[in-house]
Amino acid sequence: IIMDGNGRWAIQRNKPRLFGHRAGIKALKRIVEFCAKLPVDILTVFAFSTENWKRPKEEVNTLMNLVVEYIERELDLLDRNGIKINPIGILDELPEKTLEYIKKAAEKTKDNNKLVLNVALNYGGRAEITQAVKKICQKIANGEITPQDINEDLISRFLYTSNMPDPDLLIRPSGEMRLSNFLLWQIAYSELWVTNVLWPDFKPQHLINAIYDFQNRDRRFGGINLS
Ligand code: FPP
Repeated sequence: IIMDGNGRWAIQRNKPRLFGHRAGIKALKRIVEFCAKLPVDILTVFAFSTENWKRPKEEVNTLMNLVVEYIERELDLLDRNGIKINPIGILDELPEKTLEYIKKAAEKTKDNNKLVLNVALNYGGRAEITQAVKKICQKIANGEITPQDINEDLISRFLYTSNMPDPDLLIRPSGEMRLSNFLLWQIAYSELWVTNVLWPDFKPQHLINAIYDFQNRDRRFGGINLS
């Protein structure tokens, strides 16, 4: 899920953008708790992109502090619900306190198996592929592999989502028709579902609608349907 539209939601209410991000956290809480009750194995949410640093410093700080606040408030409940928090992105560039909290959350929940919650923080699809290329080149330089060993499986293993299946469904609230550098490699065959609903207004019913629509899609993965 690309959690988009917090700013617009706040502006519609003549409130500062922070107000929208706070409402975005509530939406996140609802959807995570709901997913944990469904046979959903993995939920990946886009919380902060490698491009979001371009926002005013105050908004960046707010978002980073909200991550801390979310973990402070929700960690015990997330843990009790069997949710494994798995941060993905260039984590060592995050502010110290944010990094400390997400590491703590990941450590505490590492053995949970009801739902994996991938939290994309300072995440960019191109940056992810770039770091994978660097690691693969390093392996070649060390003589551990040869260029002939490179295939799609090997590349996938060097992404943050190694050992995870590709997403079935990509949900984008607030009507924007773009991918915004999210999971570029992994979503090659994901089904897209876009709604005009802004993220703070996103409810379990919207997720159900997305899943129903998904169930009626004809997924051919580049092939043809013979049945
Ligand atoms: C997009 O709305 C939303 C973001 C850039 C931040 C999403 C983050 C959260 C919901 C909270 C932090 C996350 C965690 C995991 C605790 P926008 O600001 O781009 O909205 P706009 O397009 O309407 O301006």
